[in-house]
Amino acid sequence: MAEDAILGFLQSNDEIADSHEFAASVGVGHTELENVIKSLKGFEIVDSKEITKDRWVLTDEGKSYAANGSPEVQFFLAIPPEGISRADLKVKLGAEIFEIGSKAAAKNKWVGFDKDLVTKKVGSVKDETKDLLKRIDGGEAVADKVINDLKRRKLITKYTWRGYSLRKGPKYVLKRKKAATDLTREHLQRGDWKDLEFKEYNLDAQVQPIQIGYMHPLLEVREAIQNIFLQMGFEEMPTNNFVESSFWNFDALFQPQQHPARDSHDTFFLKVPATTRQLPEDYVDKVKRVHEFGGYGSKGYGYDWKRDEAEKNLLRTHTTAVSTRMLYKLAQQQLFSPKRYYSIDRVFRNEAVDRTHLAEFHQIEGLICDRGLTLGDLLGVLEDFFSRLGMSKLRFKPAYNPYTEPSMEIFSYHDGLKKWVEVGNSGMFRPEMLLPMGLPEDVNVIAWGLSLERPTMILYGIDNIRDLFGPKVDFEIIKRSPMCRLGL
Ligand code: PHE
Repeated sequence: MAEDAILGFLQSNDEIADSHEFAASVGVGHTELENVIKSLKGFEIVDSKEITKDRWVLTDEGKSYAANGSPEVQFFLAIPPEGISRADLKVKLGAEIFEIGSKAAAKNKWVGFDKDLVTKKVGSVKDETKDLLKRIDGGEAVADKVINDLKRRKLITKYTWRGYSLRKGPKYVLKRKKAATDLTREHLQRGDWKDLEFKEYNLDAQVQPIQIGYMHPLLEVREAIQNIFLQMGFEEMPTNNFVESSFWNFDALFQPQQHPARDSHDTFFLKVPATTRQLPEDYVDKVKRVHEFGGYGSKGYGYDWKRDEAEKNLLRTHTTAVSTRMLYKLAQQQLFSPKRYYSIDRVFRNEAVDRTHLAEFHQIEGLICDRGLTLGDLLGVLEDFFSRLGMSKLRFKPAYNPYTEPSMEIFSYHDGLKKWVEVGNSGMFRPEMLLPMGLPEDVNVIAWGLSLERPTMILYGIDNIRDLFGPKVDFEIIKRSPMCRLGL
């Protein structure tokens, strides 16, 4: 074993001068020896110095001459006593040896050329080139003149060895103890744990990536937002119906039937079942009336409201349809009780898909229903909600929704992007929406909505919504994503 050989040698010798020679003498490869040296050095059992040594080694041509003789000698030996024609000799030797050998042999005056006949001029010759090459191959030193000559003939070339010289290190031992990696039951039973050396923990070691399930960023952020709502005393609304009637999605929200959002370019309508069968008749009447003639201090829209239009089924375009159902239910109670509701679920819009838009996404919605609420309450609850999300600088811009008055778009200053980004929409539900339901007159509803995808993309630094959600979702992004903690 390489380690025993090194430590054994150093016990009775000061130095291993050249690791290459040593490797050859003990019959191990230099790479193997080098690994052992590095480990021994790491534990200060040996000291090592890097050394470089220039050596002359034979080229392929040089090797063939060392084995078969130099071309000139091959040339000489191939000539029979009676001589041979050039052409025959060339066939015998091959063109290359013939060319090189004939020149050198002629120069040495070993051979003669009589017209076409080649004859020997001396009885025997010594192959000095072959001898020299063999000596160099064996590591012997030869005169500079010889080296230069062979180098010029491209028979040898310089090779730089990198190796080590070794001496004992401060912690030298003849046989090193193998550090234990674990304390076992056997160690305790035998009692030899007292004498064991334990391997230190390598806290920088790279570990195998673990193959486990990964939380999708949208689920992470959804959970965080859900927790914020719960901490603020909100109850979750049941949003488990993607299919909705136009009545609950639009009409009950005082959204006129000619409104562009109700166009099939913006809304997905269902073919089967195309219409809804059940609507609360009393309430439908009141909604029809408020659209046509107003009431509750409103002039209404003054158009002919059509039930057909209200019965059309669609994929809900906002979760405000659910909020509306919940408020209607609340209005049916004998005694009014204030409520805080929230939902986070999917909505659908017939939109062109691009970097920031998908035809389906998740909407976060919150609402508070209570007596005497004001715009100040809405501002306050929005400040509270968004600051828990880590967005404490807010600005509001007047906006329009058919079902809220006043309405405000919500902007938050993004420190990373260094700009104001739109984060949501909000408002106070109109009396035209709330009073036909039968809610008491002094009850107001403040509400807001935003997408789940927007804050997730900002938090995770994702700039293409298609990487996050939908059929082209980038699984690598999901794997790499750290768990985000909202609200700091
Ligand atoms: N429904 C609105 C939207 O889809 C969001 C909203 C909810 C606005 C509640 C005001 C009040 O953008």
